[in-house]
Amino acid sequence: MVDVILGMQWGDEGKGKIVDYFAPGYDIVARFQGGPNAGHTLYVEGKKMVLHQIPSGIFHQNKINIIGGGVVLDPVTLKRECDAVAAMGIDVRKNLFIAERTNIIVPTHRALDKASELAKGESKIGSTLKGIGPAYMDKTGRNALRVGDILDKNFTSQYIKLRLKHQKLLDNFHFIEDISAWEEEFFEALEFLKTLNVVNGEYFINNQMSQGKKVLAEGAQGSMLDIDFGTFPFVTSSNTISAGVCTGLGISPKQIREVMGVTKAYCTRVGSGPFPTELEDATGEELRKIGNEFGATTGRPRRCGWMDLVALKYSAMINGVTQMIMTKADVLDAFEQLEMCTAYNINGKETKEVPYQLSRMKATPVLARFPGWHTDSTQLAKGAPLPQNMQAYIQFINEYVGVPVKYVSNGPGRDQILPL
Ligand code: GDP
Ligand code: IMO
Ligand code: MG
Repeated sequence: MVDVILGMQWGDEGKGKIVDYFAPGYDIVARFQGGPNAGHTLYVEGKKMVLHQIPSGIFHQNKINIIGGGVVLDPVTLKRECDAVAAMGIDVRKNLFIAERTNIIVPTHRALDKASELAKGESKIGSTLKGIGPAYMDKTGRNALRVGDILDKNFTSQYIKLRLKHQKLLDNFHFIEDISAWEEEFFEALEFLKTLNVVNGEYFINNQMSQGKKVLAEGAQGSMLDIDFGTFPFVTSSNTISAGVCTGLGISPKQIREVMGVTKAYCTRVGSGPFPTELEDATGEELRKIGNEFGATTGRPRRCGWMDLVALKYSAMINGVTQMIMTKADVLDAFEQLEMCTAYNINGKETKEVPYQLSRMKATPVLARFPGWHTDSTQLAKGAPLPQNMQAYIQFINEYVGVPVKYVSNGPGRDQILPL
């Protein structure tokens, strides 16, 4: 049995905190896609931890954490993260498992990411420059090196072959940065990787499930950044939606039970691309300030705007979301008035559907207004009724999307969450 937690917007919805909260109810936490472009923040014993590659269940003793084959893995980031986790008393050799099929990010992938973004100029994606796009290109191009290859005696020659191929591309981009220091740390990190548990991921997880073990699949990025269904080309390079759980872990769709969609009470986006409800004014600035909306991976200011119900309903549809978790409700505490987008106006026509090519059209949001709740929601006791205006805000979301919000997160802390 697998339950899924994934982002319904453009990433950074608070997935890390939510996975950490639900992890005690599961035996296994598994990442199924994405790479170190993910930055999942959680607080452990009051200490802030940001995870990029390791699943967010790692801080619970005796839980198995799996990096699935659908992930792209940067050994350097992984080593750094394992060191940080080990410093918190966690034995990664006991509870972290990596699928053999996981594709490896090599230093030239990072260089290619940078070169490609520079070449795009104004139309750049706003990539995190972690080598995600080039690594997935080598996967679908059938050139990639995988974790299961690192013990192969031909690994170094395979690496050199790939590097030469990349060098030709980099020469075309006139990219001349010296990456020898990156290479040195890459090979050091590979030695570390050899000491970790590398397993046949699909047999490992299916065997565990046949023994009755419960799996929590942790999405990275968000549904609107999905390679197929997001705001292409301003997307990441993997299937961030629930369908990615099956291909990323090697499990049957029949195993999936709950799909828990995480959404902020408003919207943010890092990097370029369409964002119909974006507020480029003082209100947007206030959301950014109160919500501390700066990238966990890159530190970049996140673009902020009102809740986009058109995108949220679309996301619920393509993921089969069964319940929603609304995070950062406390960020809206002091706002006099709130707004939510109920339709897009495109060339004078209203639509409640996300169009095929949102990035090529100007979608003006049709906004519904709601009074703020003027309550310090961080102080709300579990089980106590929510402020009436917050209830009305949530009720509108429930009715519009057709899926209920079941939890409200009212602060970044581990226990700052209100079951409804
Ligand atoms: P993820 O990528 O989806 O895991 O989200 P990030 O960690 O990148 O960004 C979410 C940010 O919001 C982090 O700094 C969290 O600590 C913080 N956060 C999560 N939930 C809440 C909440 O309910 N209220 C507030 N104020 N902050 C939250
Ligand atoms: P988490 O898991 C928010 C965005 C980048 C860029 C686009 C492509 O923390 O929610 P890439 O690195 O894949 O080339 O970037 O996707 N992006 C994210 N935005 N949260 C993330 O991850 C993201 N990972 C990638 O800003 O616009
Ligand atoms: Mg993040």
